[in-house]
Amino acid sequence: MSDIEQLEADILAQIEGAGDETALENVRVGAIGKKGALSEQMKTLGKMSAEERQVMGPLLNGLKAKVTEAIKQRQDVLKRASIETRLASEKVDVTLPVRANPLETGRIHPISQVMDEITAIFADMGFTVAEGPDIETDYYNFTALNFPEGHPAREMHDTFFFNPDENGERRVLRTHTSPVQIRTMETQKPPIRIVIPGKTYRQDSDATHSAMFHQLEGLVVDEKANIANLKWTLMEFCKAFFEVDNIDMRFRPSFFPFTEPSLEVDLQCDRSGSEVKLGEGNDWMEILGSGMVHPNVLRAGGLDPDVYQGFAWGIGIDRIAMLKYGMPDLRPFFEADQRWINHYGFRPLDMPTLFGGLST
Ligand code: DAH
Repeated sequence: MSDIEQLEADILAQIEGAGDETALENVRVGAIGKKGALSEQMKTLGKMSAEERQVMGPLLNGLKAKVTEAIKQRQDVLKRASIETRLASEKVDVTLPVRANPLETGRIHPISQVMDEITAIFADMGFTVAEGPDIETDYYNFTALNFPEGHPAREMHDTFFFNPDENGERRVLRTHTSPVQIRTMETQKPPIRIVIPGKTYRQDSDATHSAMFHQLEGLVVDEKANIANLKWTLMEFCKAFFEVDNIDMRFRPSFFPFTEPSLEVDLQCDRSGSEVKLGEGNDWMEILGSGMVHPNVLRAGGLDPDVYQGFAWGIGIDRIAMLKYGMPDLRPFFEADQRWINHYGFRPLDMPTLFGGLST
């Protein structure tokens, strides 16, 4: 085999053996690039005699054309192969069912939703959120709120008591969010405008009562707070929360140790159908307790009742959630049944705001 034939055989074998486009490019440079084997051969043409050149010229040029063509063909093969592999690896089975977006699958519990709605409404009125411990002392839960020792109102709360500690003091699971009124007055100078959402506990359990439930307490203390302000605040809250332009409210005299006078608030409703309709009919539904903060409570919070006055209210969150969203039974709220939460829950990115809509 002549040198040229050998060169041809080598180059063609290399082209055939190139497994991908980068390898093929290396072969091309090695053969017909500036310093390629064939190019080097062609540079020798100039030094040849005329007769020699007449033989070698067409031979080398022919080989170059052959190599160029072989490279092109190999390129086509490799390109097609790489498209095939890509197609195979990116294959999509269009018959598979669509997987839900993770953001669409989680749900916000109605209690969290309603707490967010309530705090959005009160934040808009200039209130801030305060919190306190679920395990309370008898002092904060009762005594400081003007429940004297042995007072029968203590019995009304069906309290969960802990065993007495070494000092004989019994802690309790707080029966209401009102103790946070005292904790706030102790640490914050008036004007005070706070709402206190949280868990509360009583030994009570049926379709509309659970041993653990949620309340929202409100407290306003300054030098001028009065009943008119209380009524306006609660009226605005109810309209915003129930998303209605008008709602009839009834304020009934009542008794709580920590307020004087005390008022219970009822909303107009219609119970004639299968569900309760708010703002219609001639029935009433009690939704919250309220009143002017008792002077003894202001004193317990370290404030002078001759200088400061305030109003407060406490509302059952679970209750108004059931009312607003038409849930007949309270128990499933705490049963962690996924079907229930899928049905009654809220989409995670729909944060309630007054400008964007509370429940849309
Ligand atoms: N703490 C009361 C309860 O749980 C509710 C309540 C009534 C709170 C009147 C108040 C209030 O702040 O003024 O039954």
